Amino acid sequence: MKITYHGHSAISIETDTHRILMDPFITGNSLSDLDPNTVEADVILLTHGHNDHVGDAFAIAERTGAQIVAINELAVYATQKGLQAHGMNIGGAFDFDFGRVKFTQAFHSSSYEEEDGTFIYTGMPAGIILTIGDKTVYHVGDTALFSDLKLIGERNDIDVAFVPIGDNFTMGPEDALLAAEWINAKKVVPVHYNTFPVIEQDPDAFVAKLTNSEGFALKAGESITL
Ligand code: NI
Ligand code: MN
Repeated sequence: MKITYHGHSAISIETDTHRILMDPFITGNSLSDLDPNTVEADVILLTHGHNDHVGDAFAIAERTGAQIVAINELAVYATQKGLQAHGMNIGGAFDFDFGRVKFTQAFHSSSYEEEDGTFIYTGMPAGIILTIGDKTVYHVGDTALFSDLKLIGERNDIDVAFVPIGDNFTMGPEDALLAAEWINAKKVVPVHYNTFPVIEQDPDAFVAKLTNSEGFALKAGESITL
């Protein structure tokens, strides 16, 4: 499978059979290489309800018919907008036709802000472990450092982990280094940085300090193949 980074926390995964988008924040994402009006997707996975993660998901789902997979409250909200959605919750896994999705915990907050400023409750924030064939991708989501990342690393043979390093809203580079050590993935890609002034970081310095994983400071549009 081919996994492409699209700036902030947005990732796409192309398999032989499916096009999967995760946290497709395109409009308003200065780093994005995608066009929200033409990007294709069969499935959209969302880690939590914040607008910099839901991003263009609803419009893309409406145009493409893609199914949204999210924490239950966010999935219900999507269905109320007339979209197809599958609700899950932390600790639960489900075998979809495109792969197995498991929602993991994340220490963060979660809500969706409407254009008029109204906040919609969207349940708990999460990380997502996606297993396709014998490959496992872990989108850590937005989170602080927490010690159960070690448990997640011990219980999953993770091929690539997408780890936030931006600080301010999530863990910063120092905490993310320990997170990466605990997650123990073969490959690590830093995410959630440089989109806004308060989360400016040096991804090359971060990947140079990784100990037990190979680091890839991908630019938007760059891919790794598993
Ligand atoms: Ni967030
Ligand atoms: Mn975020």
